[in-house]
Amino acid sequence: MLLPIVHYNDPILRKTGAKVDVFDAALRALARDMIETMRAAPGIGLAAQQVGKAMQLCVVDVSRADDGFDWELDGNHPPLELIMPMVIVNPEVVVHPVEKETIDEGCLSFPGIRGDVARRDAITAKYKDADGVPHELVCNGMFARCVQHEVDHLNGVLFIDRMSKKARAPIEKKIRELAARTGGGKA
Ligand code: NI
Repeated sequence: MLLPIVHYNDPILRKTGAKVDVFDAALRALARDMIETMRAAPGIGLAAQQVGKAMQLCVVDVSRADDGFDWELDGNHPPLELIMPMVIVNPEVVVHPVEKETIDEGCLSFPGIRGDVARRDAITAKYKDADGVPHELVCNGMFARCVQHEVDHLNGVLFIDRMSKKARAPIEKKIRELAARTGGGKA
């Protein structure tokens, strides 16, 4: 089932998600609906806040955004098509002390708005899947960027917060117009 995507500046986007304690059929159904919604949008990631739920849950599918990234899941290197789409619950991300890369990002809660965001190029993420099974993911490139963007959402952080003043200036007007249309308050 497709879910309506919440746009900036709806207050839900600023809420920190509650930790998921119950891994039941309802959680799996929500994750399935989020995957369907992400794909239809189309997008490569979607956080629970973006469908109106402040929970530590996001979905990711970077199989069509392969920029040559590498990954390791639970110490193995499974084919990407086996691990995508990925359901990420209660994530804890550690960024590796590597160079930051600056790349143009978008967000399904900011239709038509893109801007440069600097992020570290590699991460380790500990999380649970939709069945509550713990995993450890190490990845870089667009995979790491996408996970960082989605995990930010789970903590009420948006990509515009990560932009330099210089990157944000040319899109500031669009951001304010979007906030005014959404009726969620001031930008
Ligand atoms: Ni986003």
